[in-house]
Amino acid sequence: MSNEATSKLPTVELGTGGPLVGVQGLGCMGMSEFYGPTDTTEALATLDAALAAGVTLFDTADIYGSGHNEELIGPFVRAHREQVVLATKFAIERRADDPTYRGVRNDPAYIRSAVDASLRRLGVDVIDLYYMHRRDPQVPLAESVGAMAELVTAGKVKHLGLSEVTGAELREAHAVHPIAAVQSEWSLFSRDVERTVVGAAAELGIAFVPYSPLGRGFLTGSFANADQLAADDFRRSMPRFTGPNAAANAALVAPIQQVAEERGVTAAQVALAWVHQQAEVHKLVVVPIPGTRKRTRLAENAAAATLTLTAAELALLEPIGGEVAGNRYADMSFSSAGRE
Ligand SMILES: NC(=O)c1ccc[n+]([C@@H]2O[C@H](COP(=O)([O-])OP(=O)(O)OC[C@H]3O[C@@H](n4cnc5c(N)ncnc54)[C@H](OP(=O)(O)O)[C@@H]3O)[C@@H](O)[C@H]2O)c1
Repeated sequence: MSNEATSKLPTVELGTGGPLVGVQGLGCMGMSEFYGPTDTTEALATLDAALAAGVTLFDTADIYGSGHNEELIGPFVRAHREQVVLATKFAIERRADDPTYRGVRNDPAYIRSAVDASLRRLGVDVIDLYYMHRRDPQVPLAESVGAMAELVTAGKVKHLGLSEVTGAELREAHAVHPIAAVQSEWSLFSRDVERTVVGAAAELGIAFVPYSPLGRGFLTGSFANADQLAADDFRRSMPRFTGPNAAANAALVAPIQQVAEERGVTAAQVALAWVHQQAEVHKLVVVPIPGTRKRTRLAENAAAATLTLTAAELALLEPIGGEVAGNRYADMSFSSAGRE
């Protein structure tokens, strides 16, 4: 079985020795929950449109819709198994009786049961890239990564990844077993990963998979305040999108829109192009995974991978990251920056 897809997007190796993937992936999370109403027919059409646009890395996790997202994309993955590079994640526990509860589990017994549950929901016999979604500092990292490495030996997983780890944690993990990719938030207004994580990944030949590269949609100008979102939209709980922070942050979108107008492209494309260009700045492989539920976004987002911003445009966008009001999570212990 080969995952080396024929892709319209340029392809890159996802970490040293990792699979070849289109240089932009697809985040499937919103197809199940968090960002407003979902539509299964449109979601499935979006998966097909992504593949047609040259996307081969498809990103899900066991918690997205509490298993729903893995079940949703499973038939698509199976139908295109040779082309799709399937990434999923474990570590975040939820409770049916408390929708806001989030626990973090990194212990080997949990990892062993989580992978089997994901394989069952996806209906596949191997996961191409298996991420630890969050770090529980109470469990020695060598124990967790050791358990993940055993899944590679058992043939259940091909490559390992980590999400929201610090640079030091990435180095420690990579010494136990090669890590193909680190997935963390990275965008024009979430740049804390540049402190330690990006440099460690570059040095170790680990690919960076930026999640929320569109700032959860905010950088596209599609909403300016969480009040405009559905009542159950997860972004209502995020400090950047409410109250005075939202007003301050909405003003930061203006230079993105200015560049977009001058170039005849969309704000989403400018925000995504900036993320892609960090590969050259920091000398590492960068494969952003913008999320969408709509097939109409696919060609637009894919085109951003080959849009090059000029030095003057980059300079105009540079101040945004330093001026953002509010943390990217209400509880920053949920992020790598909270442990740096
Ligand atoms: N590892 C982690 O902890 C973690 C955390 C969060 C997310 N993720 C992964 O990363 C993926 C992407 O992150 P994300 O979904 O949080 O944020 P994102 O990609 O920054 O933004 C997604 C939002 O932008 C909108 N959007 C997409 N393309 C657009 C365009 N061209 N113009 C205007 N709006 C556009 C989407 O709405 P529509 O659906 O209406 O297009 C959606 O509301 C997720 O799907 C998930 O797989 C991982």
